[in-house]
Amino acid sequence: MQQANRFRIQPGGKLSGQLTVPGDKSISHRAIMLGAIAEGETNVSGFLQGEDTLATMQAFQQMGVSIERSGSNIRIIGVGLGGLKAPGKPLDLGNSGTSVRLLAGLLAGQRFDVDLTGDESLRKRPMRRVIDPLMQMNASISCTDDGTLPVHITGGQQLHGIEYDMPVASAQLKSCLLLAGLYASGTTIVIECKPTRDHTERMLTAFGCPVDKQGQRISIQSSNKLVGNDVHVPADFSSAAFFIVAAAIVPGSDIVIKNVGVNPTRHAMLDILKLMGAKIDLLNQREQTGEPVADIHVEYSQLNGITIPEALVPIAIDEFPIIFIAAAAAKGVTKLSGAAELRVKESDRIESMLAGLLALGIKAEALGDGMIIEGGKFSGGEVNSFTDHRIAMAFSVAGMLATDTVTVNDCTNVATSFPGFFDTARQIGMHIDHG
Ligand code: S3P
Repeated sequence: MQQANRFRIQPGGKLSGQLTVPGDKSISHRAIMLGAIAEGETNVSGFLQGEDTLATMQAFQQMGVSIERSGSNIRIIGVGLGGLKAPGKPLDLGNSGTSVRLLAGLLAGQRFDVDLTGDESLRKRPMRRVIDPLMQMNASISCTDDGTLPVHITGGQQLHGIEYDMPVASAQLKSCLLLAGLYASGTTIVIECKPTRDHTERMLTAFGCPVDKQGQRISIQSSNKLVGNDVHVPADFSSAAFFIVAAAIVPGSDIVIKNVGVNPTRHAMLDILKLMGAKIDLLNQREQTGEPVADIHVEYSQLNGITIPEALVPIAIDEFPIIFIAAAAAKGVTKLSGAAELRVKESDRIESMLAGLLALGIKAEALGDGMIIEGGKFSGGEVNSFTDHRIAMAFSVAGMLATDTVTVNDCTNVATSFPGFFDTARQIGMHIDHG
């Protein structure tokens, strides 16, 4: 069934049984990027067929890479580090921050010029965080006076390695510089202020280009080749997160989500929920193409408010919309700080979530870098997603515990990361409708 523009959730229902969710978005992007610039063939299974990852795929097709897709299976014929061709027109990365920031790094050292652009939301997001260090590496790259898209890269620059102290905890920034480092002379070193997701490091290593990590210091040498590899993409923890929280807060729920990526630099939401009193176990833990994978078992239990440890923030960054719903369903007060990055996601997720929580009768207060939420009872009401996929899915979960119908407007963007959310939610026990 197609994603509809507006979701309507009736109170009640509980979640039970086994489910699967689509492939990991971060890993799917990286599989296309590395497969395209590797030598030989890369076969990807479990690829996320979402708008964001398809935008990355299309961008490489525009640069002359042969990529065939059959459902979630992808076959890429790599063109090697120097084999990309000038795209005939600007690369439009839609809503996807990961595509545009990683591509800026990968394309900064090419021989050709390229323009990068995106949709209205992406055109508001900060790009100087990647442009400034790329220019220090001798890239020629420009954006608008506001530091936003469109970005123009002038080709033919010889990049050189730098040592860069990252001012923000961002895996997109780290990955951008590591990819630029493939094309730079010498060594490129990034020093993280806090650990962030490490999928790029793991996948580069699997493609034959080792990344050295000493504490927070990550370095890569200039490379002359990557070798095509098979990539089995696990299910996306960030998509599973909506059902993990739903099962944790809706009485009587008991679910198992199969084959989910549980990379320790991604799964801090589990630690946060466990601190709140959630019952969660990882079953059948194993490794798949260098990434930890498990089945996640969640049962309902009464959650309690907590102060979220700041060290966990970057490794739970995409899960805060749904963590806020858990906080609103918990007993007592939950406080989050150190999360200013939430303000520059697909929407300002502090303001978007505040508006929706208040609309559903929850007491909450926005901080510059976080939020204070008092647990309570969701009323029925109407919520705006601010065209942000994770806001739409988070409030759909809240609807299960509401006293009346919850309507979430503007849900089309759910397709960027979780096509099929609506059907999966219905199958697993949510009383969700659309129109
Ligand atoms: C991502 C990194 C995160 C995350 C995004 C995906 C990635 O962004 O929010 O959804 O794949 O590298 P930041 O690294 O900018 O926090």
